[in-house]
Amino acid sequence: MESSLAIPALTKDLARVLIDADTISRRTDELAREINKAYANIKGPLILVGVLKGSFIFTADLCRKLTIPHIVDFIALSSYSGSNSTGNVRLLMDTRENLEGKHVLIIEDILDSGTTLDYLIRNFKSRKTLSVKTIVLLDKPERHTFPVELDYIGFTIPDVWVVGYGLDYNEKHRTLPYIAEMYPQTE
Ligand code: IMP
Ligand code: MG
Repeated sequence: MESSLAIPALTKDLARVLIDADTISRRTDELAREINKAYANIKGPLILVGVLKGSFIFTADLCRKLTIPHIVDFIALSSYSGSNSTGNVRLLMDTRENLEGKHVLIIEDILDSGTTLDYLIRNFKSRKTLSVKTIVLLDKPERHTFPVELDYIGFTIPDVWVVGYGLDYNEKHRTLPYIAEMYPQTE
């Protein structure tokens, strides 16, 4: 049956498609294979903690490609307003799982300054977890201000604002199936 789902046309605020849906899917396959291998021998399920809202699509796609036992959980943080970092992280919603004694994999949409992941890694390590690792779909190395150790990276991108596949600009463009670069916005 032919799909009737139309891919939204690029709008005036989007400059170009940076990573298309097929490329994201193939990279997610590779990452899932690496994770399946790395956690093949752990005791108990791996706790996946998706950082809302930006990583919800990546989390959903990645977890369906995992063959190891896992539990999906989420955490909600906020550090941004528009495209300017406010520099401080607010915990809006904690995980439901008790992370003590568990292997945890944090799933983030993008590493920008590193503020969010730096906060989360410290926070999770203080909960007596067995291990805390990180996977980010996108990494913007030029923007790092905190030295965050990443275990898995989907794609390295230049310092541009990107939207789609979970990422937004003031809630806009979050559900595009691809990752697109935005023209610089004057808020
Ligand atoms: P950090 O704390 O500065 O590393 O920022 C991480 C968060 O900022 C990400 O989880 C995103 O929610 C948001 N962010 C950073 N860069 C972008 C972008 O290019 N597009 C959409 N969201 C972004
Ligand atoms: Mg985020």
